[in-house]
Amino acid sequence: MPGGIQLQISGAAQPAGLSTLFFVELWERFSYYGMRAILVFFMVAPVAEGGLGFSTVQAALFYGNYTMAVYLLALPGGFIADRFIGARNAVLIGGVIIALGHFALAAGGMPAFYAGVVLVSLGTGLFKPSISAMVGELYEADDPRRDAGFTYFYMGVNIGGLLAPLVTGFLAQSAAFKGWLASLGFDPATTWHWGFAAAGVGMTIALGIFMARTSKFAGLGDAPSVRATGWLEVTAMFVATAGLLALLLVSDQPGLEWLRYLLIIVPLAAIAFFSRREDLEAGRIAAIFVFFVAAMVFWSAFEQAGLSIALFSDRLTDNVLFGWAIPSAWYQSLNPMFVILLGPLFIVLWTALGVRQPTTPVKFAMALGLLAASFLVMVPAALSTAAVPASPLWLVVYFLLITMGELCLSPVGLSAMTKLAPPRLVGLMLGVWFLAAAFGNKLAGVFGTGFTSDDPAGLASYFASFAAFGGAAALAMLALTPWLKRQMAGVR
Ligand code: PHE
Repeated sequence: MPGGIQLQISGAAQPAGLSTLFFVELWERFSYYGMRAILVFFMVAPVAEGGLGFSTVQAALFYGNYTMAVYLLALPGGFIADRFIGARNAVLIGGVIIALGHFALAAGGMPAFYAGVVLVSLGTGLFKPSISAMVGELYEADDPRRDAGFTYFYMGVNIGGLLAPLVTGFLAQSAAFKGWLASLGFDPATTWHWGFAAAGVGMTIALGIFMARTSKFAGLGDAPSVRATGWLEVTAMFVATAGLLALLLVSDQPGLEWLRYLLIIVPLAAIAFFSRREDLEAGRIAAIFVFFVAAMVFWSAFEQAGLSIALFSDRLTDNVLFGWAIPSAWYQSLNPMFVILLGPLFIVLWTALGVRQPTTPVKFAMALGLLAASFLVMVPAALSTAAVPASPLWLVVYFLLITMGELCLSPVGLSAMTKLAPPRLVGLMLGVWFLAAAFGNKLAGVFGTGFTSDDPAGLASYFASFAAFGGAAALAMLALTPWLKRQMAGVR
């Protein structure tokens, strides 16, 4: 999980295993974000240029379903790791499956494309919750180095996310690489697959590091943490995930779109169910599901980075810098870059404010407000494209604002999950946090279908509706803050 950027950047020595987990996650995220950076461009590129020739609507729905599956499968993935194979095996097996997935995408052809997507989703479901759990296991519950450790881990995530689009974007999109391929007698329309292959190489490096250093983890994540598992529990877990996945996948079919209301009905039902019970535990779980809805709203807009914002950067932005056309995938490095630059500032800020810092609900409202602000910036940006391609500075400001929002929500929410969940349910509630990301990604795909590149006024109102959605959610969050504080019963 994206660890909590919470505490001091202290000089205290970290446990020996941390640096390994840091580099393994760095390269796994390199593979994921490298693939994501070129995915939509590959899907909408004409077949003659080596793409899939999808319409933007098809590409957006596919993106939403794929990235939803990646995070939804963290629920059964974490469950399998906890109960059957242990975190270390889950990282290893998940990692092999992810690498195979990226190489399948590299192979080309429709069957390989679908196989690749399924493999990356299944593999990430095993890998991502387990590597995060292993970071947590490096520390005793009250170890003061814990939050700093997760902070380093989150930096690893974002260093991978920063480097990856630079590499895959160069391979997939640059004239330089196309020319070089052609000069060697290769077909320049295959550059997409070179990009996906780079993602596969990244994941292979991650696996290599993990295997070479496995001795560092004496006993860590070796065995399942939960021993007794009833068949009823196993069946319930798999039926629930498979059912949810299937319903949300068929919700794109004409006539079945109403199934998308599940995205809001499921968390609202959970809030209603838990807030009607009197006990403290249930009250806190009700609060968790309010944060769930807020996070879902946030990710549904945030994930436009690989979708409508990516298409904007590709089709409507002036990408020629000093006479050189920069690959549009490179814009996706701006978010991780700002996380790396601003993350430490946020740590210092929260630490300096101490008990006077905003509470979790207020930080969530700030995140949603920043989201609204970031999309407001895109309104004049869209309008400006009526005359000339947009300046890249619009996107720089957009990513700056939305990244500040991410830093108010992602690490804060993660830490809130661990504090609000009853101790025996921490793992499950982390799965719920990934589920919020999954639902948000699905919604991002649905919203992405509204993108248009040949109607500046229409595009401006499209971006304005994200701003309105985020602004309304921010106000709702503020209105709920007093109630949430009561539900959280002492947790800030
Ligand atoms: N940048 C984060 C990561 O890849 C995004 C994320 C947040 C993913 C929450 C899943 C859940 O780790």
